[in-house]
Amino acid sequence: MTAGPSSPGSEIPGRDRVSLAPGYDISRLIVGGWQLSAGHHRSGPTPDEAVDHLVELADLGYDTFDCADIYTGVEELYGRFLRVWRSTSAGDRPIRIHTKLVPDLGALADIDDAYVRRIVERSLERLGVEALDLIQFYWWDTSVGDWLAAGETLAALQREGAVRHIGVTNFTATEVEALERGAGLDVVSNQIQYSILDRRAEAADGDSSTPLLAFGALAGGFLTPGWVGRADPGLQDLPNRSLVKYRLIIEEFGGWEAYQALLAEIAVIAQAHGVDMATVSLAWVLDQPGVAAAVVGFSSVERMRANRAALALRLTGDDRARIRRITDDAPGPTGDVFALERDRSGPHGRIMRYDLNAD
Ligand SMILES: NC(=O)c1ccc[n+]([C@@H]2O[C@H](COP(=O)([O-])OP(=O)(O)OC[C@H]3O[C@@H](n4cnc5c(N)ncnc54)[C@H](OP(=O)(O)O)[C@@H]3O)[C@@H](O)[C@H]2O)c1
Repeated sequence: MTAGPSSPGSEIPGRDRVSLAPGYDISRLIVGGWQLSAGHHRSGPTPDEAVDHLVELADLGYDTFDCADIYTGVEELYGRFLRVWRSTSAGDRPIRIHTKLVPDLGALADIDDAYVRRIVERSLERLGVEALDLIQFYWWDTSVGDWLAAGETLAALQREGAVRHIGVTNFTATEVEALERGAGLDVVSNQIQYSILDRRAEAADGDSSTPLLAFGALAGGFLTPGWVGRADPGLQDLPNRSLVKYRLIIEEFGGWEAYQALLAEIAVIAQAHGVDMATVSLAWVLDQPGVAAAVVGFSSVERMRANRAALALRLTGDDRARIRRITDDAPGPTGDVFALERDRSGPHGRIMRYDLNAD
């Protein structure tokens, strides 16, 4: 992973872009598309409004957009966005779309070459592109089915030109290594949860040099000013599923009081720099070793504009020490990346949906 050239909308040359592979450099802030899916909430923007917002974000300098085969409606929406973007005066500036291949847990035992090809073909069609820029592979349970054979199909699709780059999501370093060795893949990225509240990536199960694309850097919004000093809402009355997920992470972190103490420190740091708390939370993640980029869930254009300040913020040693004083006392979350979420008997696993890919 190396710093790449600067670009339109760049804040600091070399800080705002990163190269994941030869000839493939991206913005270090990626727009996350889960918030545009039917699964997130019912009252999001209309598709026309969403396309307008995405064009505005591209105008601001965002050039990389994350989605997944299982984010209902988002690949199609990005396809529309790409067509509109190309018709604008800036439309020759490349837009990168990162999608995923997340086979259903219930289908793992039967997944074969044809299944993988069908999902990839569907993503190509929905996006209206000839090749996927990056496909991020996931497998719920590597003890079921032939995940290495699925990886081999991806490698074949890359040789055939349908896929440009292959990444993974929520894999441990050991799994990445096994996939690279067993299926002959060159894995260019691993998308995992990483935030001030969730530092499981630091206790990775092995030495991995795979660039990390961090999601959840704002804990779904919990690491922003709107939550300072608020009473614990519990799990029942939260407005979307992401917040339920991150409220459980707060519990692992030590509970609502520990989280509020952390927010108070972030607020002090933000005030000292004259920036928003979201900017501090994002800059902290971007500064972590191994983090190539943060995938920030789509919010209003104004918030996404403000978030770009994270590319310019330089946290000091004192800022980091303030945060560390709180995080060092946090009991968790612990374990490998995504281990809590894969445990279907535990609170994190019980709220996950494991079978979203069925046609
Ligand atoms: N690979 C995986 O397993 C996985 C899992 C989860 C997510 N992801 C990807 O990562 C992306 C981001 O992760 P995430 O969805 O968990 O959430 P996140 O990025 O931690 O949080 C996004 C939320 O933060 C709020 N926000 C953003 N900027 C803000 C600001 N400046 N001030 C106040 N609030 C702000 C917005 O809430 P409002 O909508 O309320 O404005 C937004 O929905 C997703 O969209 C998806 O593409 C991947």
